[in-house]
Amino acid sequence: MFSFNEADILPLGNKPAPRLFLLGAGAMAEAFIRGIVRKGALQPEQIYVLNRSRGQRLMELQEEYGVVPAKSLIDAADAAVVVLAVKPADAAQALDELRPYLHGQLLISFAAGLSTEWLLEAIGNQAAVVRTMPNLPVAVESGVTAVAFAEHVTHKDRLLARFLLEQVGAVVEMEESLLDAATAFSGSGPGFVCYFLEAMEESARRLGFDEETARALLLHTVAGTAKVLLDWQLSPEILRRRVTSPRGTTHAGLQVFEQSGLKTFVNEALQAAAARSAEMGKQFKTKDRPKD
Ligand SMILES: NC(=O)c1ccc[n+]([C@@H]2O[C@H](COP(=O)([O-])OP(=O)(O)OC[C@H]3O[C@@H](n4cnc5c(N)ncnc54)[C@H](OP(=O)(O)O)[C@@H]3O)[C@@H](O)[C@H]2O)c1
Repeated sequence: MFSFNEADILPLGNKPAPRLFLLGAGAMAEAFIRGIVRKGALQPEQIYVLNRSRGQRLMELQEEYGVVPAKSLIDAADAAVVVLAVKPADAAQALDELRPYLHGQLLISFAAGLSTEWLLEAIGNQAAVVRTMPNLPVAVESGVTAVAFAEHVTHKDRLLARFLLEQVGAVVEMEESLLDAATAFSGSGPGFVCYFLEAMEESARRLGFDEETARALLLHTVAGTAKVLLDWQLSPEILRRRVTSPRGTTHAGLQVFEQSGLKTFVNEALQAAAARSAEMGKQFKTKDRPKD
C-alpha cells in the first residue's frame, strides 16, 4: 500500500513543469483530461494531446479544457508522463512511432490486454510502464482503475501514477495476472450492473410505476446502497443480512433469487467475461509486435 506524499508529486504541478502527454484523443483520453483539469491536479497548459488524424478533435479538447494540441510526438520527449490512450490494435504502430521520444518517462497505458512485458518490448524499455484498466465511470470521476506496475517502477513513479489516476476515481493495485479478471469484473461491471437494473426497472413498471418514478427510485437506491457500503465499510452480505427481517419483504424477494440459482449465473457470467478478456489479450501477445 502506498501513502499519499504530497512532496513526491508536487513537482509535477509546479512551473516550469514536466508535462503530461496523451497519445490518443478519444473517449478515455477525454475522461482523464476532464478529471485532471477539473480537480486542478495540473494546469491545462501542462497537458499535451495528440491523435492520429482528427485535428478538429484536438481543437475541441483545447476549447473545452484548455489543453494543448501537440504539434508532433516531439512534445512527448519533454513530458514526465506519457499516456497511451489508443485502441489496443493501434498500439503497436503508435508505440513504434513514440519510442524515439522516450527516455525514462512514466508510461501509463489504458490499452486493454497489452501486458507490461509487451509494452516494454514495444518501447525498447525506454519508459517505466504502468498497465491500467479503467472503467466507464471514470468519465464522471467516479470510476475505478485497476493498476499493475511493471517491475522496477520507482516508488515515486508509482505515487505519481496513482495520483493522476485518482483524479478520475479510485485506484486499486494488483498483480498483473489479475488484470484480465479485473477487465471482466470492474471493466464489464457497469454493463452487468445495468443488466440487473434493467430487469428491476422492467419489473417496477409491472408493479405500476411510470418510467420516471421507477428510474428515480432505482438509481437512488443503487447509489445510496453503494454509498452505505463504502461509508460504513460493510460487505454486501452483512448489509443484506441487516436489511432482511425474517418473513419481511426483502426476505420474500431474496428467497426467489436464492431458489433461482442467481449466484451461479453471476459466477458463470463473470467466468465467461474473464475467459474472453484473457483470449482477447492473447492475440496481442502473438502478433502486431512493433518491428525493430
Ligand atoms: N472508453 C472506455 O471506457 C475505456 C475503458 C477502459 C479502457 N479503455 C482503453 O482506452 C484506450 C482508448 O480507448 P477510447 O475509447 O478512448 O478509444 P477511441 O475513442 O477510439 O480513441 C482512440 C484515439 O487513438 C488515436 N490514435 C489511433 N492510432 C493512433 C496513432 N498511431 N497515433 C496517435 N493517435 C492514435 C485516435 O486518433 P484519430 O481519431 O485521429 O484516429 C483516437 O484519438 C483503448 O486502448 C481502450 O482499450 C477505454
